[in-house]
Amino acid sequence: SISRLGPVRLPTAELHLHIEGTLEPELIFALALRNGITLPYRDVSALREKYKFTDLQSFLTLYYSNMAVLLTEQDFEDMTRAYLVRAGAAGVRHAEIFVDPQAHLIRGVSLETCINGVTRGLADSEARYGLTTSLIAAFLRDRAAGEALDVLEQLIAMDAPIIGIGLDSAEVGHPPSKFIAVFARAHDAGLKCVAHAGEEGGPEYIWEALDLLGVARIDHGIRAIEDEMLVERLLTEQIPLTVCPLSNVRLRTVDTLADHPLPGMLARGLNVSVHSDDPSYFGGYLDDNMAQLTSTFALDSSQLAELAANSVRSAFLPRERSGTLL
Ligand code: HPA
Ligand code: ZN
Repeated sequence: SISRLGPVRLPTAELHLHIEGTLEPELIFALALRNGITLPYRDVSALREKYKFTDLQSFLTLYYSNMAVLLTEQDFEDMTRAYLVRAGAAGVRHAEIFVDPQAHLIRGVSLETCINGVTRGLADSEARYGLTTSLIAAFLRDRAAGEALDVLEQLIAMDAPIIGIGLDSAEVGHPPSKFIAVFARAHDAGLKCVAHAGEEGGPEYIWEALDLLGVARIDHGIRAIEDEMLVERLLTEQIPLTVCPLSNVRLRTVDTLADHPLPGMLARGLNVSVHSDDPSYFGGYLDDNMAQLTSTFALDSSQLAELAANSVRSAFLPRERSGTLL
């Protein structure tokens, strides 16, 4: 029955997942040991104690700090494979995965190490883990746009196996308008474009992401509901909103899961789907997000089917592939 807990059984695409946000505390300690790095936490449970966030920035500080253990291609490959095993168990059939190249470049880890390591992990994912994958390079909006443009040019020059670009990190004070040139270059290079907007930032960030960056999807987008004109636009164009309920609770964007706007957004006909963002930090993978939503809101089979279908139709997949999942 639908209420039984376990992997999501409807074919589902994970469209909002930061690979660095899948680093589990145990793997952080294992990689630290392998790389001779001393962590500022006594053990795994002391690290887990830190997973109490007050807002996006409080999470980002720990998220970037823990990346110190990622030094070699093997580290990036191991992180990626650990995620794919878990995603396969969760029932994910396709994943479009964010990586944050700048977060590694600024600590002296090369673009090749990061991209090649993740790419090695993604190879043969369908045969090994039961899901197809693609990679999206996300730019850090709290850093200079010129740096993002420079990294984008390097990614294009090395023919990195990415399908698109995204925009993440600290949102407020770093509007999409800052990145017009970066997204123009990405469109020009034939890359898909998405951006985080309306997580902590207001509806105006969503307008800008659509009108100034030409994005095909909005990551989070939950603050769209504060602007009726924007809701009409998102409805008419069926713009995908990749919503991450457990993330929103953990980062205090919503008070409790019961207060989450997702069911209302779905009822209005918005193209919302459910994703896990940074599952190791936010208390759950895609199956956990679905299980908690289902029990909190008593979601029925038609709502669950709609969420799953939205995830597949919002994916950057050729019709032949999305058709097999719908
Ligand atoms: N929001 C913004 N930036 C991020 C996130 C997030 O939830 N996770 C990783 N980078
Ligand atoms: Zn995110």
